[in-house]
Amino acid sequence: MPNINPQAIQVKLLNNSYPIWIKRNITQHIYKYLEKFYIGQKWFLITPTSIYHLYGKEIIDNLTQHHFEIIPILIEDGEKIKSIAYFEKYSKELVQNGCNRDSMLIALGGGVTGDLTGFIASSLFRGIDYIQFPTSLLAMVDSSIGGKTGINIGEGKNLIGAFHHPKAVIIDPYFLSSLPEREVISGLGEILKYGIINNNSIIDLFIKFKSKQMDLTSSEIDKMIIRSVKVKVEIVEKDVNESNLRRILNFGHTVGHIIEAFTNYQYISHGEAVLHGMIIAIELSKQICNLNEDYANKIISILKDISFIKLPEISKQEFNNFLFRDKKVQKNKLNFILLNKQCSPIIKNDIKTEIIYKIYKSHQRSLI
Ligand SMILES: NC(=O)c1ccc[n+]([C@@H]2O[C@H](COP(=O)([O-])OP(=O)(O)OC[C@H]3O[C@@H](n4cnc5c(N)ncnc54)[C@H](O)[C@@H]3O)[C@@H](O)[C@H]2O)c1
Repeated sequence: MPNINPQAIQVKLLNNSYPIWIKRNITQHIYKYLEKFYIGQKWFLITPTSIYHLYGKEIIDNLTQHHFEIIPILIEDGEKIKSIAYFEKYSKELVQNGCNRDSMLIALGGGVTGDLTGFIASSLFRGIDYIQFPTSLLAMVDSSIGGKTGINIGEGKNLIGAFHHPKAVIIDPYFLSSLPEREVISGLGEILKYGIINNNSIIDLFIKFKSKQMDLTSSEIDKMIIRSVKVKVEIVEKDVNESNLRRILNFGHTVGHIIEAFTNYQYISHGEAVLHGMIIAIELSKQICNLNEDYANKIISILKDISFIKLPEISKQEFNNFLFRDKKVQKNKLNFILLNKQCSPIIKNDIKTEIIYKIYKSHQRSLI
């Protein structure tokens, strides 16, 4: 290996352990990290056209120089490609280009690219290998880790999917230099979530990062990514199939999903919706779990300071309809993640929907 000393985090799972390498500019040495997976089979780089021009072509050139046989599969951008139609389109394109059961797929892009590529890898030839190479902040700290893959149907997001773990995850924070600001905010939502539910030092780092005008070349962002990945890995290792503990990662997501779904996934990004969902969850935690007021108010003001987006007016009836459509409803009980105290999440299933709606309304009005 070249001496660039990436942060190496091993995800330890029973049969599917894999490494995550994190280092700014690791892409320049990528072949060194990938060569152990190369056994002369065909590789495919699945990436949106825009990302291909930014980073993909250079990766292909680099790997080709080192004798990899790798073909780009250029895909469209946007959540719409997480669908049965695009799943079929790109699966066909792969097979027509010689993909077989020994092939390796690389997902180079945001969470959409990773979820779709992972799902194709989980099902094509009953499962082939793939590598996650996330380029958005959200994908770096969240969607590329944990093996959840999937696509959407009209009835809901991610309703078709599979657990299929990648062979490796490579994270190069250099890619963030071209990420649109809204997407940065989206990733920060998830990063702050890890700080709130598990590791308060992430919040301290964020405060420093903010004081540096959120400079995406600062060491704070690299450190926040590393610490966030460690939190996610720790939780995934303890509950790989999301049966219990892993649900705490849904902190802020219940109301976040309502906002996303109500606005047809067009208006607000996932992480931004989660930011607002977390504000509601913290307000609820103050009322229901006696969460320390000073701590709660400090976090709420940090969260409010990041996203200024206005929230939609939703009627009580519509709010409840979306609430009970959520995947976190089990046996008609709504599992809601709250905080007992700093970094101590709990799952509550007896919260009255009126309280949630009331807090949503008052938060929504506070932004007008
Ligand atoms: N599998 C999981 O565990 C998991 C977890 C969370 C979210 N998700 C899924 O992730 C998806 C959201 O991911 P996302 O927020 O990354 O969205 P995305 O993949 O749509 O990326 C957002 C936008 O940023 C662009 N982009 C990405 N990296 C860039 C870069 N470096 N420079 C310039 N532009 C760049 C993309 O092309 C896209 O236009 C959703 O579908 C969600 O369901 C999955």
